[in-house]
Amino acid sequence: MKKLEYPLKFKVSKRAPSKSEMEWLNNWLDSQSWGEDLKVLEFGCGITTWVINNSLKPSKYYCVEDFKPCINQVKDHVKNVQFISTTWDDIPKEKYDLVFVDASSCAPKGLVSIIGEGEIVFRDDAIHYVMDFVSDDCFFIVHDWCYRSGWLRSKWYFEARNYKLIDSFKKEHGWGVYQKGNFVKS
Ligand SMILES: C[S@@+](CC[C@H](N)C(=O)[O-])C[C@H]1O[C@@H](n2cnc3c(N)ncnc32)[C@H](O)[C@@H]1O
Repeated sequence: MKKLEYPLKFKVSKRAPSKSEMEWLNNWLDSQSWGEDLKVLEFGCGITTWVINNSLKPSKYYCVEDFKPCINQVKDHVKNVQFISTTWDDIPKEKYDLVFVDASSCAPKGLVSIIGEGEIVFRDDAIHYVMDFVSDDCFFIVHDWCYRSGWLRSKWYFEARNYKLIDSFKKEHGWGVYQKGNFVKS
């Protein structure tokens, strides 16, 4: 795995994915052939934001987050991120190329669960909400994928919509990468 260097002054959150998880993610992002004019939507910012931005150089980067220390840390190191901290409607309905979900339990305060089961299902909510407007070949990357019971509903939700698990990292908390079946490279 390629060694990943973080910016020296970035204070990495205790809730961030581990270094080896981040190295896997960085390698995965670097191994894909991305087009131009990339649009990224992230749920839960932090060092993940810096790594994704550094690898993909997206033209638009939105992040759903309301935890100020994380936002400030990212603002100091990544200049092009726009934060959404209020309601679902504030998420721009772009044709996202990548949706990254790492907010396993902390939905922004005003972002009430749309599937009605409280904050703990925020990651399910995130996926349900954006599914209607992402690009056809959008990648969904979900953290904590090794907590299978936590992700089971989202897994079923993806599968019911012909999304396939195209890659995964099964150590520590883990990553799952999903893409629609007809776009999966054989
Ligand atoms: C799994 S963390 C996201 C980690 C992020 N992707 C990163 O690279 O650091 C999920 C959320 O927990 C919240 N969070 C992070 N640190 C926290 C803290 N010390 N206390 C309370 N909430 C925190 C933030 O809202 C964060 O987005």
